[in-house]
Amino acid sequence: MRVQVGIIGAGPAGLFLAHLLHRDGISAVVLESRSRDEVEGTVRAGVLEHWVVELMQQLGLGERMLREGHVHDGITLQWNRARHHLDIAGLTGGKRIMVYPQQEVLKDLIAHRLAHGGEIIFGVGGTTIRGIDGDRPAIDFRRDGNGPAETVACDYVVGADGFHGPGRQAIPAARRGEYQKVYPFGWLGILVRAPRSWHELIYTHQQDGFALLSTRSPDVQRMYIQCDPNDDIADWSDTRIWEQFHARLGTDDGWSLTEGPIVQKGIIPLRSFVCEPMQYGRLFIAGDAAHIVPPTGAKGLNLAVADVVVLSLALAESYRGGRSDLLQRYSQFCLRRVWKAERFSWYMTTMLHRNENESDFEQRMHFADLDLVRTSHASAVSLAENYVGLPFD
Ligand code: FAD
Ligand code: DHB
Repeated sequence: MRVQVGIIGAGPAGLFLAHLLHRDGISAVVLESRSRDEVEGTVRAGVLEHWVVELMQQLGLGERMLREGHVHDGITLQWNRARHHLDIAGLTGGKRIMVYPQQEVLKDLIAHRLAHGGEIIFGVGGTTIRGIDGDRPAIDFRRDGNGPAETVACDYVVGADGFHGPGRQAIPAARRGEYQKVYPFGWLGILVRAPRSWHELIYTHQQDGFALLSTRSPDVQRMYIQCDPNDDIADWSDTRIWEQFHARLGTDDGWSLTEGPIVQKGIIPLRSFVCEPMQYGRLFIAGDAAHIVPPTGAKGLNLAVADVVVLSLALAESYRGGRSDLLQRYSQFCLRRVWKAERFSWYMTTMLHRNENESDFEQRMHFADLDLVRTSHASAVSLAENYVGLPFD
């Protein structure tokens, strides 16, 4: 098989890239190790920045999102049992976020690409990258996990294969730097069959720690609480989970949280991670393959899309015979945005979580930060601008 760009991974990075390249007349194939059902069934992110919503529409993918997604003008921050509304649209000249789950975005991207002749091969095994040092790179793989060996010959390989994929590892260790912070807490996430309890997302920092109230639809809610990352989910009975949500989301104004059957639950660790550079020879890495943010700022998916927007522009310019220096500077362009998203995600995470390793002084600092957002216009604008998505530099 011969294409211009071989993409590993059918997550947000790989699939958005396939769409952007198709728009620019560049041929590509996407190789994905999981089945289509698995990719479309994994519950992850929920928040789209304003420009990702616009991009979906420009790519002809906006119809279901506009019908089923939920536009939010702001978010609620809560501490000391009191709530503060952050008017994101008012603070950013009218920009809004969309709550539309990642797996729904992926369903739309996959269906549309396949319907228009795109090639996405699910369930591949043995993905191996080679030749990125020279000018004839290739990806070897096996269909259905262990079928006969096949090869994608291409001009460029893109590792959009998440944190554990082979993309980043294909950059020689001596040529990459890795920056990491692992947090001493994780998130326990649940899906609940219940009506909404509040009209917007609530991020709360109470005595017992962080909680987040989000939504999926009028009858399904998505909620998270801070927990020990090493906890066994079996030790979190539904009763214990609800006790914690009531404690952390409780207020003194008579509001109450509506419970319902928990239909899914799981624990994820929280980490910040950046690999520099994000390219080597004819290999480019994008999304979680290159960087991880803790989910508190809702940035991971959006950052993955930002990388491939930059990459697709650089590839298109290079194929048009224009500036090849854009491709050389892909990593440099992306990392400016990446580090700002890392900063914001770290700020939101440290401000909103209880960290037993911190002194009382440091813990007081987080409440001062929260109160600054309530009382300082500049602080509120800064949070809102970052949350809704910074302008491209
Ligand atoms: P992935 O989605 O990880 O996709 C990589 C793909 O590559 C996978 O499908 C994988 O199967 C495939 N792959 C791996 N290895 C191989 C191989 N060898 N061969 C072929 N294919 C391979 N982000 C937000 O922006 N907003 C949020 O609100 C938000 N909330 C989150 C909540 C949770 C609980 C979690 C876990 C994450 C959240 N995120 C959020 C982060 C977001 O989900 C990720 O940042 C996003 O999925 C990254 O996309 P990606 O395409 O880079 O990687
Ligand atoms: C969701 C996840 C996040 O990480 C976040 O910051 C906001 C919402 C969600 O899954 O809905």
